[in-house]
Amino acid sequence: MRRIQTFIAMVLLVTLVLIFFYSTLHLEMTYSHRAGPEDVPRRPGLQAKDHNVKRQTPKQESFTTLHPDVHNVSVSDSLRQTISQNGAYWNRLLHSALRNLDKGQNPSKHDSDWSRCRETNPELLQTNVHDFTSYPVLFQDFLQGMNCRSPPVLINQPNKCMSGERKGDNQTFLLFAIKSNPGNFERRQAVRETWGREGTYQSGLRVHTVFLLGSPPLDDPDLSPLLSFEARHFGDILQWDFHESLLNLTLKMNMLLQWTLKYCPRVSFIFSGDDDVFVNSLALLSYLQSLEPSKASQLYVGHVISTASPLRDPKSKYYIPLSFYDSPYPAYAGGGGFLISGALLQPLYSISHVIPFFPIDDVYTGMCLKAVGVSPEAHAGFQTFDVKEQDRENLCVHKDLILIHQRSPQQMKKLWKGIHSPLLTC
Ligand SMILES: *[C@@H]1O[C@H](CO)[C@@H](O)[C@H](O)[C@H]1NC(C)=O
Ligand SMILES: *[C@@H]1O[C@H](CO)[C@@H](O)[C@H](O)[C@H]1NC(C)=O
Repeated sequence: MRRIQTFIAMVLLVTLVLIFFYSTLHLEMTYSHRAGPEDVPRRPGLQAKDHNVKRQTPKQESFTTLHPDVHNVSVSDSLRQTISQNGAYWNRLLHSALRNLDKGQNPSKHDSDWSRCRETNPELLQTNVHDFTSYPVLFQDFLQGMNCRSPPVLINQPNKCMSGERKGDNQTFLLFAIKSNPGNFERRQAVRETWGREGTYQSGLRVHTVFLLGSPPLDDPDLSPLLSFEARHFGDILQWDFHESLLNLTLKMNMLLQWTLKYCPRVSFIFSGDDDVFVNSLALLSYLQSLEPSKASQLYVGHVISTASPLRDPKSKYYIPLSFYDSPYPAYAGGGGFLISGALLQPLYSISHVIPFFPIDDVYTGMCLKAVGVSPEAHAGFQTFDVKEQDRENLCVHKDLILIHQRSPQQMKKLWKGIHSPLLTC
């Protein structure tokens, strides 16, 4: 009898201890969940109230929780062969990362601390790049920040793709991810009113739009109250605290991958493009809907530049010094506008931790996709270098295309109205 009582008492005690332990564990978990980044911005644009205050205490909200599994990554032989092993700095960086990867070591040394990631020791860069001081200033700047990949978030839209999923609607079919600049209000509005309109299209296809922004130069007028209003009103602005510049577009592309994996992971397709191109969205959606499943999961399509090499004229916008990169470019889809499958996001993001940042964003995307074994497919409907001069006002030509290079906001509206007019006979 005595024994049974002791036994029962013991069982009770253990149960109590377990309950207590579990409840503290649970608390711990809910607490860390509370502190998670998703819960910070309840309303779109809430974070950008005051840019100047933001600057002093930047929200250390970044997406570095997404640790890519670099040990399950492998880099295709075709990329290894295209980018030869030679004395150029980037080539050396790549092959050193590949050697580490092959040895099962961590290939990258990216610093997740944004305040410490820049290479500030000029000697180190000069040791590795003998003519570093003759590089254009912005290029030197790029080299110093090559390992920086987690800028603070200024404006987020954490619920962009989620809202529909909760209500039982269809998941996002297409995400328009449009590279914009803080000051380009008029272009963004033209896109919203025309091809970038969010909503449900033919047979229930859900389309969402986000504009990707960095921060304006410090000397520029302070646009943050306007951006904050815009973000709250339209719910389509994403902004990070890094300077807008051509050589930071690769970082912007990487932020798009991080953001989409976190907040829109089940999207079927992503359109990445500029805010001044014209897109025939209905033609684009029909094209995407027509794809075979095997192709739909490996899509990388656009205007393909297949035999390009670096430009060596220091005055060129896309100048690449010989001592920095010495190989032809792999085939890539022009950054004005191209499509990739949502299924490629994770492989692309993981591989981006092996492939060092390259200063030209669309070339970099082409390199990463080649590394995962995907080649760009050319589509005649993507005209990132524009159509023939005499066809620029021709609505029938535009009706058959998917993307046309550079149009003003006014031209965009006119073209959009024109190609959708019931009176148009082609
Ligand atoms: C979801 O998609 C299906 C098939 O494309 C369509 O029939 C349905 O109407 C869509 N549902 C919603 C809520 O849009
Ligand atoms: C990219 O952004 C960082 C962070 O704002 C900045 O320090 C750097 O100068 C920018 N790089 C270029 C090449 O403009």
